[in-house]
Amino acid sequence: MVAGPRGPAPGNVGGGSLIREATAEAIAEAASALRAGKLVGMPTETVYGIAADALSPSAIVATYELKRRPADNPLIVHVSGPEMASELASVWPKEARVLAESFWPGPLTLVLPKRDLIPSEATAGLPSVALRAPAHLVAARLIGAFGGPLTAPSANPFMGLSPTQATDIDPFIERGLAMILDGGPCEVGIESTVVDLSSGPPNVLRLGTISLAQIREILPDAVHELAERKAPGMYPRHYAPQTPLRIATKAPADAPALVFGEPGFGQIRMPSDPAAYARRLYAALAELDRHGADTIYAEAPPTGPEWDAVRDRLRKASTADR
Ligand code: TXA
Ligand code: MG
Repeated sequence: MVAGPRGPAPGNVGGGSLIREATAEAIAEAASALRAGKLVGMPTETVYGIAADALSPSAIVATYELKRRPADNPLIVHVSGPEMASELASVWPKEARVLAESFWPGPLTLVLPKRDLIPSEATAGLPSVALRAPAHLVAARLIGAFGGPLTAPSANPFMGLSPTQATDIDPFIERGLAMILDGGPCEVGIESTVVDLSSGPPNVLRLGTISLAQIREILPDAVHELAERKAPGMYPRHYAPQTPLRIATKAPADAPALVFGEPGFGQIRMPSDPAAYARRLYAALAELDRHGADTIYAEAPPTGPEWDAVRDRLRKASTADR
């Protein structure tokens, strides 16, 4: 599943940790690395991303190579806000305007028809582009210092767990970066909600902490329909630890597990609030993954719609098939 050792990537030839406190000076340095076509580990409120110049085909290709990501899986372009977004989309409809007014900056990605300015490498050849204005101050400052849009897929190897703290970035990913800006633990913890506004009714392609119900409060005709053709990059298995994960009503007492009640040895007690659970999820799985057990268990969360996004991530993480 995860790529094996490779030769040194261009970013960090010398080795050693690249994690830097996100001071103004470090952000300026990161912006100039991006201008030179290099890749930077960027904190966002959802998960850490691999930032690159969104208008540079070669930087984007390097991002795909580093993640071992299939070329048919499009990237999200990070912007400072609606103004920058509307320069990259060929239309900026009312639906985009109202969603951006309600949820930007924040964990919401909007898919719109793209302008030619966006290289086809960023969108996996699709005529649409995914746009998001992140709320994390360090991400916002980096986009500002760079002065343009940044592609940023989650900073995990293809299909793996997304990092929600700088120290959880995979060493093989780290080797391809010029630096990692440390923005602390991610507040949201799971990837943004993706809404396709490029054709047909607004379609929620990926669930996140902004729920389908919240989108429908603003756009009542929004749907949640995953057709393979319309939702590239949505795989049955995703966001997965290396150790097989099983969802169980009750975890065995002696196994590494995410539990709701009193934790046994090697188990992690998870919050009973869905937002707090999401914030903790990937770091907790990464922690259990390091134990080298045969199986990790996760106790099934409650059934309500407020748990939809967490259930989606657990289901994908526990699926063996690609
Ligand atoms: O929270 C997030 O969105 C994080 C942080 C770093 O911002 N980024 C992230 O990116 O999750 P990534 O590359 O792991 O996920 C991008 C997904 C694609 O797999 C695809 O499902 C969807 O966004 N996407 C991107 N462009 C699209 C397009 N043109 N049409 C449909 N879906 C698209
Ligand atoms: Mg990802």
